[in-house]
Amino acid sequence: MIERIKESIKYIKAKTNDLRPQIAIILGSGLGDLAEEFENKMKIKTSDIPNYPLPTVEGHAGNLVFGRLYDINLLGFQGRIHFYESGKIENVIYPVLVAHELGVKILIVTNAAGGLNKNFKPGDLMIIADHINFMFLNPLKIFSPNVNRFNKPAYDEKLRKIAIQTGIELGLPVREGIYCGVRGPNYETPSEVQMLRKIGSDAVGMSTVPEVITANYLGMRVLGISCITNYAAGISSTKLSHEEVTEVAQRVKNEFSLLIKETIKKIKQS
Ligand code: 6GU
Repeated sequence: MIERIKESIKYIKAKTNDLRPQIAIILGSGLGDLAEEFENKMKIKTSDIPNYPLPTVEGHAGNLVFGRLYDINLLGFQGRIHFYESGKIENVIYPVLVAHELGVKILIVTNAAGGLNKNFKPGDLMIIADHINFMFLNPLKIFSPNVNRFNKPAYDEKLRKIAIQTGIELGLPVREGIYCGVRGPNYETPSEVQMLRKIGSDAVGMSTVPEVITANYLGMRVLGISCITNYAAGISSTKLSHEEVTEVAQRVKNEFSLLIKETIKKIKQS
């Protein structure tokens, strides 16, 4: 694993003149456009990076986008890889390892998720307060099989507060809740949705949990934001589809970008 990442990093550093990102952002389905707003943009296709895992889903173009906002060096990951694509956890956490190797100390993880909490609506932006690992996978086995280093909240409390405050000030539909990560690739049945609600989940999706576990292990501070793109099965009478997910992500992407940009600005000031 370590050898594999070294070659990727060598290539990335050569391309970016050793530019050091301070904050990395993993951009979820339909949310990749935020990185297009970076200043002094420098894009690297993941397919050009030695050893970088490739997505299997067509139309999920993978790019690392280096750039700046408010005098902060940023690294955006467009096109994440899900566990269901390869079944390889090391591919899922690869962006986190890359960010860590480049010196990133703050990771913002985003995703499109189904709403389980009946007070949530499509278009809501949920600041992740905590997660439930319902993927029954753990990336830490790659590092050290016997050590539990989870000794602080997985989602940094200061970053959460800043994000919520920012959302409220901007008049955006921000919520707070528990993200439940599942393997997919299918959406849940209505009965599974009831179960996930009962165990305390507010939103459900197929990503984020492995990345967040890894980032915490590596000592990063983590902020997670879910874009609620649809009601999970059985929560409303509307039929659930991948089209609805991408459509809503498209519709709210400006609000979503605004929340993240203003949050980054406030993180800098804090
Ligand atoms: Cl309803 N379920 C899962 N697992 N992932 C989703 C979703 C639902 N909506 C968007 N992503």
